[in-house]
Amino acid sequence: METAESVHRAFDLTGRVALITGAGGGIGRTSAEVLAGAGAAVVCVDLDLARAEETARGIDSAGGSADSAQVDVAERGALSALVERVVQQHGALHVMCNIAGIMIDSSIIDLDPDEFERILSVNLKGAVYGCQAAGKVMVEQGAGSIINMASAAVLTPSAGIGAYAICKAGVAQLTQSMAVEVGRRGVRVNTIAPGFVPTNMTARYYTRPDGTIDEDAKAAVLSPMAKFAPLRRVGVTSDIGYCVLYLASDASSFVTGQLLSPNGGVAMHY
Ligand SMILES: NC(=O)c1ccc[n+]([C@@H]2O[C@H](COP(=O)([O-])OP(=O)(O)OC[C@H]3O[C@@H](n4cnc5c(N)ncnc54)[C@H](O)[C@@H]3O)[C@@H](O)[C@H]2O)c1
Repeated sequence: METAESVHRAFDLTGRVALITGAGGGIGRTSAEVLAGAGAAVVCVDLDLARAEETARGIDSAGGSADSAQVDVAERGALSALVERVVQQHGALHVMCNIAGIMIDSSIIDLDPDEFERILSVNLKGAVYGCQAAGKVMVEQGAGSIINMASAAVLTPSAGIGAYAICKAGVAQLTQSMAVEVGRRGVRVNTIAPGFVPTNMTARYYTRPDGTIDEDAKAAVLSPMAKFAPLRRVGVTSDIGYCVLYLASDASSFVTGQLLSPNGGVAMHY
């Protein structure tokens, strides 16, 4: 029989170690906070070290356990070296969240080759490197959960963000291929494909040239999106953080190779 205690235990990450890329802000920061809140020791990784440190400090002062590290996920070998250090320090790696990402706005026809190379390197190759680094350790351990961040752009293509969608579709495929390879070794791999969540990434739609937020422009962007969604709202970062918690925890121990879509219902799939 399931009880309050067994249900709590299924979501409890006490004694687990989680590495989160993109933890300097937005969805990555909240995901790190949620995993730490569930008891995990978290390693907050970002290109922007000051912001990763800020996330870790916030978690520490809320009573959790967090370290920070600066890594460019696009750099070959960087995530492997970090995962090695984390395993030396903590003895294991139970959860890997590949959340770091960037956006470029361009039609496919006008796509600049250098910009395309950069977004592929961060959003797709970075996720591959993260999966490889964590996967090797987790296969040895015989356990682990890898969570890759895609986007609703995979399900509903939009004009002007094709390069981003291409990367995220690759991330969804990376998840499925790897899930097939490592499932028998006790390792699960899943994708989350969020809908629109206001963060620094989306702020480009309503930021003035001087860097301040134009609240009228923000409302003009957000309100039609909210109206279009069956749940009549856009997302908040914790909507995604709690999906990360589910996939990180034993509550999802029969779930692998899947794409979970916290998007207010804007896109649905079988
Ligand atoms: N916000 C949304 O609406 C939305 C929707 C779907 C998917 N996503 C995805 O969620 C993830 C997080 O996005 P967000 O909205 O929180 O954006 P964000 O810009 O707030 O956070 C992204 C973080 O990644 C870090 N980063 C960027 N390049 C990096 C690199 N090369 N190495 C290490 N860190 C790097 C940034 O410094 C930043 O802290 C991304 O993968 C994004 O594509 C976001």
